[in-house]
Amino acid sequence: MTDTYTQLVNSGPGRTIARRLGLPQPAVLRRYRPGEKLASAPVLVLGGGSGADSVAGALLDWDLDVRRHAAPKEKLAAIILVLDGLTRPEDLSAPLLAAGAALRGLVPGGRVVTISRPAAASDAPELAAARQGVDGILRSLAKELRAGATANGILLGDGVGAVSPSALGTLRFFLSGRSAFVDGQFLAVSSDAGPAPQHWDAPLAGKVAVVTGAARGIGAAIARTLHRDGATVIAVDVPAAGDALAAVANEVRGTALQLDITREDAGERIIEHAVQRHGRLDIVVHNAGITRDKLLANMDAARWDSVIAVNIAAQLRINDALLAADSFRESPRIISVASTSGIAGNRGQTNYAASKAAVVGMVRSTAPLLAAHGGTVNAVAPGFIETEMTAKIPFATREVARRLNSLQQGGRPSDVAEAIAFFASGPAAGVTGQVLRVCGQNLVGA
Ligand code: NAI
Repeated sequence: MTDTYTQLVNSGPGRTIARRLGLPQPAVLRRYRPGEKLASAPVLVLGGGSGADSVAGALLDWDLDVRRHAAPKEKLAAIILVLDGLTRPEDLSAPLLAAGAALRGLVPGGRVVTISRPAAASDAPELAAARQGVDGILRSLAKELRAGATANGILLGDGVGAVSPSALGTLRFFLSGRSAFVDGQFLAVSSDAGPAPQHWDAPLAGKVAVVTGAARGIGAAIARTLHRDGATVIAVDVPAAGDALAAVANEVRGTALQLDITREDAGERIIEHAVQRHGRLDIVVHNAGITRDKLLANMDAARWDSVIAVNIAAQLRINDALLAADSFRESPRIISVASTSGIAGNRGQTNYAASKAAVVGMVRSTAPLLAAHGGTVNAVAPGFIETEMTAKIPFATREVARRLNSLQQGGRPSDVAEAIAFFASGPAAGVTGQVLRVCGQNLVGA
């Protein structure tokens, strides 16, 4: 589960050898720690409209050192391109060339963030062309950045301003170490909803969160991260994982619920435990998942059906119970763990990819149902994450899978957990029905 190569090329002699041989040079990523400094150098805000002025003002409120024009050779922690006023493709030239001229000053682990509006079929063709252009720019620029720097984009929905609470919450997520392994991705902010963000280091204080599959791996990391952010955590896993589950629950000072999520009454059991033991339920993270890989030509019913049962059918049934429950109506949050396999496909995983693509479909159509209660539902799609599961992949295959992304390394379970914690937080109230890849920008497929 340790990436020895990344450690090696970040030591003096290792770095020289890797450079000489033209080998990948993954950087040690800048990851979040409570109390982190959001920016170690000035932040450059580019864009001519009033949106750019507002964003610059908001960053000043965060005590950042803000520039509206690049100074020669100045180091920059981030470049923010506010492109919400584009009307035609030619409008892209000035801000993008200014950004390009400033890129060499970007510090290791720096950030580029675009703020723009999505192209819609109802837009005039010229407007839609300009807006869609940002997609190509962002995804290409993310592939050009080095030294652990990332580029991500915010898409503002109809009537949503560049400094609405969730636009700012998303901007802060992309700027911070919480998004270390998110690269080349967009998040859409669909409403102005949400409280003005306040407690950036304890955004989940007072919330009660359920995490399924919490006994180990990514689920245990999610439990730890939600606890760190202030939530009370209910750790759920199968009875056979009881000891490991109890250990995680104790570590996060939460409670353990031994439960197979495929049980018919799993949703009711979760709600009952939450209400009886903690008096409320705010956040449900559907993380439990299994793989039973086989080429479709060799697939049997047991493999196919078990994957569907755990990875999607159980989530649907639990969600039905949650939607019907009076105790899950105060800005409820559901976050599902999907996979890049469900987006790009993966050989030997038709069953698993079906279940994970199904999660994406479920999230999109559940969003309007939860919106009635001021709630949101989103998915996180991890790429290659350093876990016990991926440690078992044969060396050569593992090295290929791990390096073929813009950051040239695998992510950590905590990287997935950070994205989930963001979706669970108040500032993400205007973000729903989204699928965020935490994959370092896989170069193949997704
Ligand atoms: P893992 O196998 O280490 O942990 C999964 C946990 O879920 C286990 O503790 C297991 O006991 C529990 N679980 C399984 N079936 C259950 C059931 N019926 N009821 C309750 N709990 C159950 O897996 P890992 O790697 O931590 O993955 C977590 C999630 O992330 C899964 O949904 C997986 O598909 C997804 N994922 C993982 C990636 C990776 O690189 N490890 C990549 C993409 C997605």
